[in-house]
Amino acid sequence: KHKDSDIQIKDCMPIFQHIRMVKASDEIEHIKESIEHTRLGIEFMMANCKKDMFEYQLASFFDFSIIYNGNKKVAFPSVVAGGKNATVLHYSKKDAILNKKDLVLVDVGCQTNYYCSDITRTFPVSGRFTKRQRDIYEEVLLVNNMCIASAIKGTTLTELNNYATELLIRACYRLKLIAKDEEIRKYYWHNVSHFLGLDTHDVGFKDMPLQPGHVITIEPGLYIEEENIGIRIEDNILITEAAPINLSANIIKEPIDIIKYMRSNKDRLI
Ligand code: GLY
Ligand code: MN
Repeated sequence: KHKDSDIQIKDCMPIFQHIRMVKASDEIEHIKESIEHTRLGIEFMMANCKKDMFEYQLASFFDFSIIYNGNKKVAFPSVVAGGKNATVLHYSKKDAILNKKDLVLVDVGCQTNYYCSDITRTFPVSGRFTKRQRDIYEEVLLVNNMCIASAIKGTTLTELNNYATELLIRACYRLKLIAKDEEIRKYYWHNVSHFLGLDTHDVGFKDMPLQPGHVITIEPGLYIEEENIGIRIEDNILITEAAPINLSANIIKEPIDIIKYMRSNKDRLI
C-alpha cells in the first residue's frame, strides 16, 4: 500500500471467523479427543479427592493425567475451588484446604492437536452430598440439560442465556433464595455459553444463529456465597441439523454416578 496507493487492504478476520466457527469433521474429532483426555483427568481427580487436601494438590491430579495419557497441554489454568471459593468465577489461587463438608468445583480442559475442551464438574469432597447441596446441584443439572436440549440450529447464544436465566430464576424461587426475579444477579451473573475450538473462548457471535458444525459450551451455575456453595456444570455441545450432540456426555454428572464412582474409588490415592 505504501508503494501503490490503489491497493485495497481488507481485514481477513471475518473470513477466518466464519471458517473457525463451522468445524469440519476432523476438527470435531480433535475436540472429542480433547474431551476424552479431560474426562480421564476429571475422573482421576474424583478418584483421588481427599478431605484436607489443598486445592492445588487436587489440581495436580488433572495435570498428571493429562501428561501421563500423552496429551501435552492444558487449555487454560485449571480452576479447582472448594466451598466458598467456587463462587469466584475464575478462581486461580488454589491454596485453600478442601473441607470434607464442602463441594469442590473443577473447571478444566486440555488442548489436543490445538483444539480445546472446557468442562466443569462439581462434586462433594467426601463423596457424599448434603441434602441442600444435592437440591441445588439437581436444579443446576436440570438447567444444564434443558439448555443442552435447546442448543438447536437457528438459536443464538443470547437466547440460550436468556433461557438459562429464566430457568435459574425459577430454580432460585424453589430453593428459597430469591423473592423477586432481579435478585438472580446475586447468584448467577455470567453467560451460559461460548464458542469452543482453537481457543477455549473461541471466535463467534452471540447473536448469530447457531449452525451445524458450531461447537459451544453450556455452563449454568449458581453461586451462593452465604452457604459456601458454588455449582457449575459445563458440557461441550455440537450443533447439528437435528438434535444437539453432547460431546462430553461420558463425563460423570448425575449425583448418583458421582457418589457411586467416588465410593468405589474411596481408597485411591493415585
Ligand atoms: N468455563 C468458564 C469459562 O468459560 O469462562
Ligand atoms: Mn467455559
